[in-house]
Amino acid sequence: MAAVQKGVRRDGADLYPAMPYDSFAAMSREDVLAIRVYLLAQPTISQPRPQNILPFPFNQRWILVLWKFANLHTGSFTPDLSRTAEWNRGAYLIEVLGHCGACHTPRNTTFGMDENRKFAGGTAGIWQAFNITGDKIAGVGGWSDEELFRFLKTGAVAGKAYAGGPMAETVMNSLQHLSDDDIHAMVAYLRDVPAQTGDERQPRFSWGNVPAIAGDAGTKTQGSGSTDGDNLYRSLCSGCHGMNGGGSPDGSYPSLIRNTALGAATPENVVMTILEGVKAGDVAGRKSMAAFGGWLDDGQVATLANYVTARFGNPDVSTTAADVRQMRAGSSTEQTVTLLAAQALAASGAGLLLALLLLLARRFRRETSSARLMFVHRDRR
Ligand code: HEC
Ligand code: HEC
Repeated sequence: MAAVQKGVRRDGADLYPAMPYDSFAAMSREDVLAIRVYLLAQPTISQPRPQNILPFPFNQRWILVLWKFANLHTGSFTPDLSRTAEWNRGAYLIEVLGHCGACHTPRNTTFGMDENRKFAGGTAGIWQAFNITGDKIAGVGGWSDEELFRFLKTGAVAGKAYAGGPMAETVMNSLQHLSDDDIHAMVAYLRDVPAQTGDERQPRFSWGNVPAIAGDAGTKTQGSGSTDGDNLYRSLCSGCHGMNGGGSPDGSYPSLIRNTALGAATPENVVMTILEGVKAGDVAGRKSMAAFGGWLDDGQVATLANYVTARFGNPDVSTTAADVRQMRAGSSTEQTVTLLAAQALAASGAGLLLALLLLLARRFRRETSSARLMFVHRDRR
C-alpha cells in the first residue's frame, strides 16, 4: 500500500517517481490488494536488486522529500456524482491506473505533472507523448470516438497513427487486455478533458498526400533523381512501406502518409522509430518493425528521417546527425534516468537551492560526529 499510494519502500525510504506513484496515489485499497494477490501468485524469481546508477547529487534520496512535498497529492479517488458511472470509470482508469499523465502531461518547474496543462503533451525518455486533449489541431479532437477506441485497444489506426515506443508497450502489456467497456469509458473521459493548444499548424495526422494508388508496396518508383535519402528509403524502407509511402496493399504494413509520428512538430518519434523499430507483434493483427540503429550511422539516420518527414509528413521538421547522436545516447536506460533526474532538478531552479542545502548538510556532518550519526540514521530511516 505504502509503495503504490505514497512512494515509500519497505525500509521506509522514498521511491523515485520513475514508479508513477503520483498517479497511483488515488488507487483504491481493493485494487492495490488485488495486485498484491496477483504478484504473490507468480513464480518466485530470485534476482539481486540492481544498483542505482544515478550520479551525485541525484543519488541523494532525501531530495525526494522536497519533490513529494511539491508534487504528491494523496487521497483516494472520489467519484463525481454529477457525472455518469462510465465517465467516472474512465477518469479512474485514465488518471490513476493507466497513469496516462505520467507521459502525456508536461512537467512543471519542479518536475511534477503540470495539472493546468493536463495531457497537453509530455515526454517518455526521448519519445514525445503527444497532446491527447480534444484540441482539433494539437490534440486528438479530429479523431472519431471509434478511432480512439481502436488506437487504445490495438495501437493501430490506418491513416492516423500507430503506437510506437513506450505507447506500443502500453498497448501491448496493458490496454489490449482491457474490456471494451473500460476502453469506451476511457474515451468518454478523454473527450471531456479541457482542450490544450500547442505548436502544430495542422493536425499531426493530416500531413502528406495520399498517392494515386494506395497500397503500392514495391511496385513503382517515384520519378525523382536518386539522392542519399531516396537510396536509403528504397533499399531499407520501401519493401514494407511502399515506394510511395502508401504501405503494403493488404494494409499489414502501415502507410507513412497521414501518420502522426511523421506529421508531428518535432522529429524525435521518427528518429526513435528508425533507431529502435516498433515492437508490436504481440497485438493481434499488428506486425513489428526491425530496428535500424545498429546498421545506420547518425548521419544516415538523420538523412532518412529528413527524407521521410519531408516527403510524407510535416516538411517544417528536420533533424541533424548531432541531434541523432544525442537521441541515440539518451535512449539508453542509464542516460534516460540521469536525464530525467537532471531535468527534475535543473528545470526546477531548485538545483541551486539544493546544492546550497547539500553543502550546508555536508559541513554540518563534518562538524559534529553526533550530528553525523543523526544524518546516517535519517538516511536509513
Ligand atoms: C510510458 C509512456 C506512455 C503512457 C503511460 C501512455 N502513453 Fe500514450 N503515447 C506515448 C507516446 C510516446 C506516444 C507517441 C507514440 C508514437 O509516436 O508512435 C503516445 C501516443 C498516444 C496517442 C496517439 C496520439 C497521436 O496523435 O498519435 C494516444 C491517443 C495516446 N497515446 C493515449 C494514451 C492514453 C489514453 C494513455 C493512458 C491509458 C496513454 N496514452 C499512456 C506514451 C505513453
Ligand atoms: C519489415 C517491414 C518494415 C520495414 C523494412 C520498415 N518498417 Fe517502418 N513500420 C513497420 C511496421 C509493421 C510498423 C508499424 C507497426 C505497428 O505499429 O503496428 C512501422 C511503423 C513505422 C513508422 C510509424 C511509427 C510510429 O510510431 O507511428 C515509421 C515512421 C516508420 N515505420 C518508418 C520506417 C522507415 C523510415 C523505415 C526504413 C528505415 C522503415 N520504417 C522500415 C514495418 C517496417
